[in-house]
Amino acid sequence: MAQAPTRSGSSNQSVAVSVDSLVKTFGGTVRALDGVSFEIPTGTVLGLLGPNGAGKTTAVRVLTTLLRPDSGSARVAGVDVLADPEAARRVIGLAGQYAAVDEALTGAENLRLVGSLNHLGRAERRQRSEELLEQFGLSDAADRTLKTYSGGMRRRLDLAAALVARPPVLFLDEPTTGLDPRSRIDLWAVIGQLVADGTTLLLTTQYLEEADRLADQICVIDHGKVIAEGTAAELKAKLGGTVVEVTLSNSDDAITAEQALKGAGEGAPTREGEVVRVATSAGPATLTEVVRRLDAAELEPTGLQLRQPSLDDVFLSLTGHGTSADDEMPRPKRGRRKAKDVS
Ligand SMILES: Nc1ncnc2c1ncn2[C@@H]1O[C@H](COP(=O)(O)OP(=O)(O)O)[C@@H](O)[C@H]1O
Ligand SMILES: [Mg+2]
Repeated sequence: MAQAPTRSGSSNQSVAVSVDSLVKTFGGTVRALDGVSFEIPTGTVLGLLGPNGAGKTTAVRVLTTLLRPDSGSARVAGVDVLADPEAARRVIGLAGQYAAVDEALTGAENLRLVGSLNHLGRAERRQRSEELLEQFGLSDAADRTLKTYSGGMRRRLDLAAALVARPPVLFLDEPTTGLDPRSRIDLWAVIGQLVADGTTLLLTTQYLEEADRLADQICVIDHGKVIAEGTAAELKAKLGGTVVEVTLSNSDDAITAEQALKGAGEGAPTREGEVVRVATSAGPATLTEVVRRLDAAELEPTGLQLRQPSLDDVFLSLTGHGTSADDEMPRPKRGRRKAKDVS
């Protein structure tokens, strides 16, 4: 399962997925993908991280042959997705925002059905189904119809269905969006296991924490463009480990505070209205320093907190709201809306 199949000798087998300059427009105005390129080395996990509407699903749909791009190219496990979609379908598994399962059937029946669609023999599909139900903690629910499954159980079954044919490359489109925290953690454990087994995985997510936990490399996209790439540690390092957030009673005070807090953390403080943020890897020590400096400047904050960087912080930092005036959307607003979902 760890290695890509030897179906095409012409390609570089150490790269399981490669995407080059994908462009996809909808209705001539929406550039859902605006020149996206990335690679996933075999046996690794790429987290495609971005807010709603960033282009994540569009990228997954192109890679899984469900959608043709306007231009660009994509290869999966050595197969040219656009030239040979049928062959591509044989090497991929897809789960997430697609309900590939049947409500009226039991968990076991669903998996056996997928097995038969994938031309597995009778004994093999029975065995594979039992194996997967066991692996995903669904053995007890094997003979219940999906109608009785919880949200978390459905996601696990959906994921199991994607794995019936043992695809070397797996696509998970926002696998945990909408799940309660407990189910999310359960699913992470299951995905972590797959990854340990060597499956190449492309995972899309809106959650930095999810990408952090599961991905070897993270590719941040927004407005159909890759805006940053790196390991979770590298992306976080850009922000420091934590954020000290100070709220002042008005923006004049906030401007004074922004000045006063220069050098208190890593990089320059950022300000949005009355709120000033200082990124730091020193946590509490920086909080103390911030308080000391505010006091020296005779500023009285109305709010003060130390928190983990959110996706919002990553976006604010990466897009440097205001400096990238080349785009049509007011980015800070988008970012703030996101943060509510995330935190
Ligand atoms: N079938 C479609 N028709 C028109 N616009 C679409 C369609 N699919 C996606 N879009 C638009 O393309 C952009 C990217 O969407 P999507 O790939 O679904 O983003 P994400 O999965 O990151 O939330 C959005 O602006 C979305 O509204
Ligand atoms: Mg999506």
